Amino acid sequence: MKIVAPSMLSCDFGKLKDEIEMVNSSQAGWFHLDIMDGVFVPNITFGTPILEVFNSFGKKHLDMHLMIINPENYIEKFASLGANTITIHHEACDNLENTIKKIKKLNVKAGVAINPDTDISVLHHTIKEIDLVCLMSVFPGFSGQEFIPETFLRLKKLKQMIEENKSETLIQIDGGVSLNNAHELISLGADILVAGSFVFKSDNPELTIKKLHSAIN
Ligand code: DX5
Ligand code: ZN
Repeated sequence: MKIVAPSMLSCDFGKLKDEIEMVNSSQAGWFHLDIMDGVFVPNITFGTPILEVFNSFGKKHLDMHLMIINPENYIEKFASLGANTITIHHEACDNLENTIKKIKKLNVKAGVAINPDTDISVLHHTIKEIDLVCLMSVFPGFSGQEFIPETFLRLKKLKQMIEENKSETLIQIDGGVSLNNAHELISLGADILVAGSFVFKSDNPELTIKKLHSAIN
């Protein structure tokens, strides 16, 4: 089953509980939670108090995408807030291998995200150890950006690397995902599609999630 992961950054935080309930009852598989520190990326989003709300009311997999420097210092914290997957950025972590180990020790799935201008080959050493690669299809920092078409070629290369290594690593695509590219992304080997503005700026987010889900399954 391929997974739709709504990025909650685009939801209406004024009615957060309703938005969480909507995702609970939708065909989405995961909640994608974008945590930004204003240092690694030029934007600040949310932290502990909001994640507690997701932990209390979210009934699906909590996928925490950390766009923060020194993520290794916060792994226990995010695990205690109910993370099922913690994704750290290759570009933001000095000690990637140890941090991956730290995440997995806490029984949380470990993901590594790479920016659109980071070479796929940097994943060579770790591909067998990680549960997920988040292939950024926009530069991290903001929702509502346009999908970068080079992602298709990068996805092909990544899929090939995973197969050559006989690894089970999942591929997540994050940024600018819509019905215009969802099908092609899945046919090239993606497993999880993150969608923020395409879902939450639509007239009927639950229906949009359903359409995305049907397009990829
Ligand atoms: C970007 C975030 C994405 C973003 C996706 O830094 O990691 O998850 O919120 O939003 P859309 O789907 O609007 O590009
Ligand atoms: Zn994200």
